[in-house]
Amino acid sequence: MLKTHSCGELRAEHAGQEVTLAGWVNLRRDHGGLIFIVLRDREGVTQVVVSSEAAPEAHAAAATARVEYVLQVRGVVRCRPGEQRNPDWPTGEIEVEACEVRVLNAAKNPPFYIYEDSAVDEALRLKYRYLDLRRARMQHNLILRHKVVQFIREYLNERGFLDIETPYLFKSTPEGARDYLVPSRVHPGKFYALPQSPQQLKQLLMVAGFERYYQIARCFRDEDLRGDRQPEFTQLDLEMSFVERDDILNLIEGMLTAMLPAVTPHKRLLSPFPRLSHAEALARYGVDKPDLRFGMELVDLTDDLRRSEFQVFSTVLAAGGQIKGIVAPGCAEYTRRELDELAEIAKGQGAKGLVTLAYRPDEVKGPAVKFLNGEELPRIAARLAPQTGDLVCIVAAEPAVVGAALSALRLTFRDRLHLADPDLIAFTWVLDFPMFDWNEEEKRWDAAHHPFTMPRPNTYAEMLADPLAVLSDAYDLVCNGYELASGSIRVHDPKIQLDIFRMLGYPEDETQARFGHMMEAFAYGAPPHGGIAPGIDRLTMLLAGENNIREMIAFPKTTQAADLMADAPSPATSRQLKELHLRIAE
Ligand code: AMO
Repeated sequence: MLKTHSCGELRAEHAGQEVTLAGWVNLRRDHGGLIFIVLRDREGVTQVVVSSEAAPEAHAAAATARVEYVLQVRGVVRCRPGEQRNPDWPTGEIEVEACEVRVLNAAKNPPFYIYEDSAVDEALRLKYRYLDLRRARMQHNLILRHKVVQFIREYLNERGFLDIETPYLFKSTPEGARDYLVPSRVHPGKFYALPQSPQQLKQLLMVAGFERYYQIARCFRDEDLRGDRQPEFTQLDLEMSFVERDDILNLIEGMLTAMLPAVTPHKRLLSPFPRLSHAEALARYGVDKPDLRFGMELVDLTDDLRRSEFQVFSTVLAAGGQIKGIVAPGCAEYTRRELDELAEIAKGQGAKGLVTLAYRPDEVKGPAVKFLNGEELPRIAARLAPQTGDLVCIVAAEPAVVGAALSALRLTFRDRLHLADPDLIAFTWVLDFPMFDWNEEEKRWDAAHHPFTMPRPNTYAEMLADPLAVLSDAYDLVCNGYELASGSIRVHDPKIQLDIFRMLGYPEDETQARFGHMMEAFAYGAPPHGGIAPGIDRLTMLLAGENNIREMIAFPKTTQAADLMADAPSPATSRQLKELHLRIAE
């Protein structure tokens, strides 16, 4: 090794020892006869002092060094005088007095400072990702990610799980996104699909008798990107045979409960993880991925306002809609502009408007007050129990819009009023999902989770009778307002699987072409099985307190699915296209 110690390691007890360090120049101060260099490596920083008197050659070499130069320094550890100690650094009690400095490599002036956590344009960070990754925040994030993955591996290995790889070049496995296709050179006009998840393959591993499988699996989805979505991302993909729902939930809950103290001891969690049915989550929070770190639950006012003559309410109720409200503490003095902003947020979710009631010390203020009769205002107050100083926000619309609008407002207040404890990790199970969602655009039923999920009733006739009433054995793990994991107990009976494909309107020949191998496998004694897949990028993002999964991925893509560092995607050569039997349409 070119070094005897790391830059984070030396303490007062090393005083007098000769050591060799190697790393990058974090900072350099030239005081003429003395040059101070803060040398950095993955483990930390150490101050190096180079004296022109004591070590002229070392001093000459240090004089040429600039930030991000790579140096090797041989020297003696000495304690710093009391007043020169740096209590902010673990190595702050000592410095290394250099007797030899070698420049291992020079560096261009970096496009941004590595040593400070300043805001840097993200495009620049991504173009020079290898420099961005040198910064303390990104080093911390990727080290945390490593610890999480290692914890998972150890936890599952100890419990009899096998880590089995599955192919990337496969066939479309539907998770609701577009596939990334890979053209085949040897099969003209044919394509592999990169897996959106190893869903089918893990089920086939259960048919193959492995019983407990996991994989830290890369998944590929061509979908619109957001802060919590990347085109390629990583799941802890897991499947078990001979289990029921609670076996999976208990395993994951046990794993995460043990993980937190090991990797992020300052974080707290709710224990046991609260469990909500899908219907309850929608009713109380308006979404199926509620943030349970704070209250502000949605309160149903529909019955209280059933006979209201206020047109905004009466038209909605006549059309079968509902009215719900939330209480924002201490927001009664919001300005016109702030109230307009809230209304825009509600409208962004499809609401026609927002009714606000400000509970001022001497009056209830709001444009709707004059339309509410003498009973309605007291009923609203009784139901929502606002305190003086609070702002009540009410939305009247169809249930999905009410939920989306009030949930968006709830999260807005969370951020503005700092209602959520940043050190709380509120894992929550959402259970009893509906089996099917109605796809209004294409006028057909979609699988709410995926088509391999076990419905509660078992026959096609039962499903046909009332698709909306069919619940499935699917479950989500939600955390701080994000969907962290999804899973389900699977269909293992080919007859039920066929019924579901029929419900989803897949023609028989399409079912055969896409899933024939699954149906065939199920005919050979598939065990009852189920599984789940937590997203590693999202989990580590929440543990690190970041709000974009890009911060947890070494080389992520932009929201345009581009790699700015390597400039991908990029054109193929005409020779490559020819070999792949492809022509680019102009
Ligand atoms: P699902 O599609 O719900 O389920 O995905 C499971 C988890 O994967 C993560 N995830 C993503 N993370 C980053 N970027 C994305 N584009 C992205 N898409 C999904 C989320 C999500 O909760 N095969 C099933 C699981 C199963 O049934 O066992 C599946 O993939 O954290």
